[in-house]
Amino acid sequence: MIQQAELAATATEMVAPGKGILAADESIATMSARLEKAGVEPTEDNRRAYRELLVTTPALDQGISGVILCDETFRQATSDGRPFPVALADTGLLPGIKVDTGAKPLAAAPGEKVTEGLDGLRERLEDYAALGARFAKWRAVIVIGDGRPSSRARRANAHALARYAALCQEAGVVPIVEPEVLMDGDHSMAACAAATAVTLHEVFVELREAGVELDGVVLKPNMVVPGKSSGEVATPDQVARATVETLSGAVPDDVAGIAFLSGGQPAEQATDNLAAMQGYDVSWPLTFSFGRALVDPALAAWRGSPDRVAAGQQALAHRVRCNSAALTGEPAS
Ligand code: 13P
Repeated sequence: MIQQAELAATATEMVAPGKGILAADESIATMSARLEKAGVEPTEDNRRAYRELLVTTPALDQGISGVILCDETFRQATSDGRPFPVALADTGLLPGIKVDTGAKPLAAAPGEKVTEGLDGLRERLEDYAALGARFAKWRAVIVIGDGRPSSRARRANAHALARYAALCQEAGVVPIVEPEVLMDGDHSMAACAAATAVTLHEVFVELREAGVELDGVVLKPNMVVPGKSSGEVATPDQVARATVETLSGAVPDDVAGIAFLSGGQPAEQATDNLAAMQGYDVSWPLTFSFGRALVDPALAAWRGSPDRVAAGQQALAHRVRCNSAALTGEPAS
């Protein structure tokens, strides 16, 4: 099937050597909160200007294969009038779109959530593909603690991820499958490894059941790390070993690639952990699809001022270079 070959080629391009994916797809509410925290008025145009700063960073394509946007940005234009997906494609970056509509409380599962957005998704994907989307993202969130994650929450999320992924492939769009086991909590690194393993196992059962071709999928998992308030400290070597072991036991070889989220880790720590993983002999490229660990320094440098656009871009370019160097083992210039 030609379409499957094209999907596999796009997925391979997303995880090309030395490159990762930039997640700039915060919802309007999340982006507005982050702008406000940085002292920037959370208007539609400021959200647009900030995303323009990110995607027009000089030489971004040296370390970034594609950029994930949210619906608002996908329909906005850069100052020279080009729609964002066109501006991305013009600079050799794959346009991506977040298509879930958020994690909502799951019935009969106190404290747990299921990600929504399947209604009308076939039509929305057709629309996004016509606007230039080459890949999509759907994020499920899994919590640890007090008997969680429950089988109910894991299965509901795995099923939704699989239905989303199948619809993406039908539309010729590569699905990023993101089951994020959250860092929040005082759980141990071993608990994170166990929750991640069982979650991933169920996700792949559902993906196969839904007829999803794994060579046209990019998996976006969490790294295996101790809970944020556990007091446990893990070195990059320990994180790398636990993460690679967990993935090796759960992720089929034919998945096109693995692109980690940063999950709220400090930017340098996420980079060091990623670098430590490169020493392992695994079947898939291991790269990054960071949000906060790439863009937080850029937002802090910009703070909404047109005079500081270049400073914001330099901050992003620096993080991209560091993460690209983590993949190749070369020193960051
Ligand atoms: P973080 O790297 O900030 O966790 O974001 C990645 C992402 O895309 C979350 O869905």
